[in-house]
Amino acid sequence: YRDTAYEKDLTGKKILVTAGPTREAIDPVRYITNHSSGKMGYALARVAVARGADVTLVTGPTEIKKPMFVKIVPVTTAKEMFEAVKEEAADADIVCKAAAVADYRPKHIADEKVKKSDSEMSLELEKTDDILKYLGEHRKDGQFLCGFSMETENMVENSRKKLEKKKLDMIAANNLKVAGAGFQGDTNQMTLITKEDETALPMISKEETAACILDKILECMNK
Ligand code: CTP
Ligand code: CA
Repeated sequence: YRDTAYEKDLTGKKILVTAGPTREAIDPVRYITNHSSGKMGYALARVAVARGADVTLVTGPTEIKKPMFVKIVPVTTAKEMFEAVKEEAADADIVCKAAAVADYRPKHIADEKVKKSDSEMSLELEKTDDILKYLGEHRKDGQFLCGFSMETENMVENSRKKLEKKKLDMIAANNLKVAGAGFQGDTNQMTLITKEDETALPMISKEETAACILDKILECMNK
């Protein structure tokens, strides 16, 4: 679909990519997380660096080999990702927020392992900061913000709402119900949504998807 030979068309651009899940501790042995593998974000970082960009990757815990020639900032929690992204976004030309950030975290983290009892238990959760929404509201001039969304229904409509609510330039939408798309696999079938248009990509590798996302970002920035 898209050749993966690259020209250095991102030379001089600083790109901040986030990838992977976050982990929110319940106690010293347990945490809340999601199925994100980090593959889409890592593909973006690899392709962007091959195209000459200065790339920073803020990454939650993943099993993937760290790409070379990329500044790696490892984080665990949504709070840590928020702090790292605020710092790294300050001089970024493009931000691609592929990470699957936890929306809620346990309100209290127990110091000791929580022991089971004979009764039910419940966890009190509090909201995490919406990192991308913060970036949309504190955007530096000319910075391009690309979000990612994972939906199981009404993909385009829900993603458009996120594009507007978070003041983004683009959102790359994923339908979790499509076989071969989503968290763990090596392929994706994304729709790139901007204020003006929608580009439905076919089912292709995450590397090709990354290349198409970066092509579309450059096209929008050069308009
Ligand atoms: N995001 C973020 N900070 C959060 C939650 C999400 O920066 N606390 C970012 C993600 O990295 C992604 C985009 O927002 O780029 C959309 O994430 P998604 O989970 O699809 O949307 P939410 O706004 O969290 O809404 P919901 O989970 O209810 O669909
Ligand atoms: Ca979410």
